[in-house]
Order: sequence, then C-alpha cells, then structure tokens
Amino acid sequence: MPALVLLGAQWGDEGKGKATDLLGGSVDYVVRYQGGNNAGHTVVVGDQKYALHLLPSGILSPGCTPVIGNGVVVDPSVLLSELSGLNERGVDTSKLILSGNAHIITPYNVTVDKVTERFLGKRKIGTTGRGIGPTYADKINRVGIRVQDLYDESILTQKVEAALDVKNQILTKLYNRRAIAVGQAVEELLGYADKLAPYVADTVLVLNQALEEDKVVLFEGGQGTLLDIDHGTYPFVTSSNPTAGGACTGAGVGPTKISRVIGILKAYTTRVGAGPFPTELFDEDGEALRRIGGERGVTTGRDRRCGWFDAVIARYATRVNGLTDFFLTKLDVLTGWEQIPVCVAYEIDGKRVEELPYSQTDFHHAKPVYEMLPGWSEDISKAKSFSDLPKNAQSYVKALEEMSGAPISAIGVGPGRDETIEINSFL
Ligand code: IMP
Repeated sequence: MPALVLLGAQWGDEGKGKATDLLGGSVDYVVRYQGGNNAGHTVVVGDQKYALHLLPSGILSPGCTPVIGNGVVVDPSVLLSELSGLNERGVDTSKLILSGNAHIITPYNVTVDKVTERFLGKRKIGTTGRGIGPTYADKINRVGIRVQDLYDESILTQKVEAALDVKNQILTKLYNRRAIAVGQAVEELLGYADKLAPYVADTVLVLNQALEEDKVVLFEGGQGTLLDIDHGTYPFVTSSNPTAGGACTGAGVGPTKISRVIGILKAYTTRVGAGPFPTELFDEDGEALRRIGGERGVTTGRDRRCGWFDAVIARYATRVNGLTDFFLTKLDVLTGWEQIPVCVAYEIDGKRVEELPYSQTDFHHAKPVYEMLPGWSEDISKAKSFSDLPKNAQSYVKALEEMSGAPISAIGVGPGRDETIEINSFL
C-alpha cells in the first residue's frame, strides 16, 4: 500500500484529526506537509481529549512515526511546548522527525502578521495571528530561516540580517513600531537549536525509503481545500497548499506514489475568519449548528461561522484534489431537524450555476439554491453500520455522495474514536 492523503474538503475544521487518528494505528508514518500551528486538530482517545496544532495526529499512535515535512512552517516554541505537554500526559514523542528544510516562524514573523492585520483594518483576512503568512512570504522572497540554519550561527546571522533589513524599514516607517534587533532575534533562535536537534532529519529520504519498503505513509493536510492559496477563495485563504498536490511538494514525494486521496467532509459547513461563504446562516439554525457541533476554533477560540452543506464546494474539492473518496464527519450534529437544506447550485446574478465560479466577484454574489432533504430524530451515535442509520439519515448520506462526485467510505457519528461507521476500509 503506497501513500495516501487525507485533507479537508471545505474550509478546514472538518474533523481531520479524528480521521487521521483512526488510521494512525495502521499506518507507519503520518506526515504534515503544509501550514503550521494555525491548524487545530482535536483527537479524542478514550476519555482523553488532545488538541494538536502543529504535530501530526499520528503522534498519539505508538507504532507510528510522525513527520513534519519541508512544506510546514514551524514555530519552535510552539513545537517544544506541544511536545512537553504530551510528555507530561505520558505520550512518547521521541519518534517525531522534523525536516531540516522546514521554514521557521520567527518572532518577527508573528509580529508582522499581527501588525499587518491591524493595518488592513476592514480589509483584514482574519488570520490566526501565528505568523504563517509572513513566514511563507519570507520563504518565497528567499529570506526565510530554515531549521538547518539553527546549526550555523554565522549563516543564521546573515539570514536574519537579510530578513530584517526591509522588515525593520516597514515596521518603523510604515507601522510606527520599534525595529527588531538582529542579535536578539539570532539569540532567541539559537536557544532552540539543541532542543530541536534530536528530531531533525532528512525527511524526504526517510519517506521515500519507507515507500520503497512498502510502508504505509499518510499525508495529513491542515486547513482545507477552499483555504488553499491557489485553489481557495483568494485572498481569504491561508498561505500554503492544503490540496493534494501540496503533499508532493511539501514532503518531497512524487505524485506517482500516491494512490488514494480522501476528502474530509463535514455534514454541514463552517468557516473561520473573513471571506465569502454562500450557505452561511445568521439565524437560530446557525446558532444551533455552532452549539451542537461545538464549532469554536481549537487554535484561536473564535466562534466558527456555520451553514448548510454546500455540494458545489464538495464537487470542486473532488475535482481539484482528484479525491478517491470521502470521510463524512459530524452527521450526528444534524439529528433533530425536520428538514435539512442542502445547497445544490448557486444563483449568480439571476442565473443558475452548477460549478464553483472561478471569478471572485461571481462567488461573492453567489446565492445558494437549496433542496430540502427529510431529517431524522433518532440518536445515531451508537450506529455501527450504514444499515443501523435511520432511513432518512441513509438518504441524506446517499444524496451527498451523489452530489459530491466521490463515494463516502466512512461516517462520523460522534466525537469518540469508535463512533465511526466504516463502509469501505481506507487501507
Ligand atoms: P492564516 O493561516 O493564519 O494566515 O489565516 C488565513 C485564513 O485561514 C484565516 O481565515 C484563518 O481563519 C484560516 N485558517 C487557518 N487555519 C485554519 C484552520 O485550521 N481551520 C480553519 N481555518 C483556518
């Protein structure tokens, strides 16, 4: 079994942590390939709840090697505190490997993220304020700091100088802030070197060798398809590629190695931060989804915007990721509605549109066209097989599958590890 990718099919927060963790016991490597500690996974194991931001969820499965790939941006202080938090709870984290080519979120990148958002005012993106965008900007501008730079003080100093050269001009002259001293930034970064050293590895080599030995490698996407810098609702997106192609560049594994791409799809839709969201609800139904679904950000603590399922987005995710199948999550949250609206198309300036428009203006004008599906009131959290579900819940799942363009292989009916109906094995 070669490599498989698990990624969010909507705007993130689809419940990927549960899906990856479910597979974690049977896979050898779980790899994060993009994003940073802007992601938030909640994993429930027995009566223990874990909130992970940067670490791959495979860290909770003893047989699995967790990998932070070259495409990830790493805040060393967050990484170290996440590791020690898990150690205190008895989780062994010694198998983690970290790419020497991953870029570091420096303290000045966090400052720039926050200051830029404040400066944008009404036009802000609603970032997580974790320095993600500025770190990727430095990477593309070729003034980024990589994990490997921590082990050469002279190179590190030159690189920090280059990075702060322009930034200090902007901070002092545009934003009216104090300049950041090179020496202080270097010293702070060097302070992480020894602590990170045991984890640093040539992850590209390790992963390709593992694949040659027929090991199972699972790529875990952060955020979601519609937050992708290329394929999402730009500019209201994150700064990396959560879509399937990102797994190849963000981990150094060729596309021919990937045999399965699983999209995590929530039975309704949520979004954090700014940007268009056609099925967003501003009424008591939206409030109920937020309350029942516990829709509050793991990373930021912000309330998520909530709305009905959007099949146009799901179809788009199937296309841009080449999805082979879906994991439908949080179906239990919809229990109790007499009828459940599902968005099957958009109306844009009086015209019915079946596919996601490429034009930002059109998407901002998109109004959902709803089809009403009959709901159910029975508790479904104990369902173990598809046939245990009430007939209307079965029809809801079947309708979503047909509209979304790929089979649904598993259904989440509760937050626990075992509250899942498996229709087809993922492995
Ligand atoms: P950034 O990733 O912090 O730059 O934020 C850019 C956009 O992505 C904002 O709208 C964030 O709310 C959103 N975002 C980033 N990470 C996540 C996530 O894990 N789930 C949902 N939204 C996210």
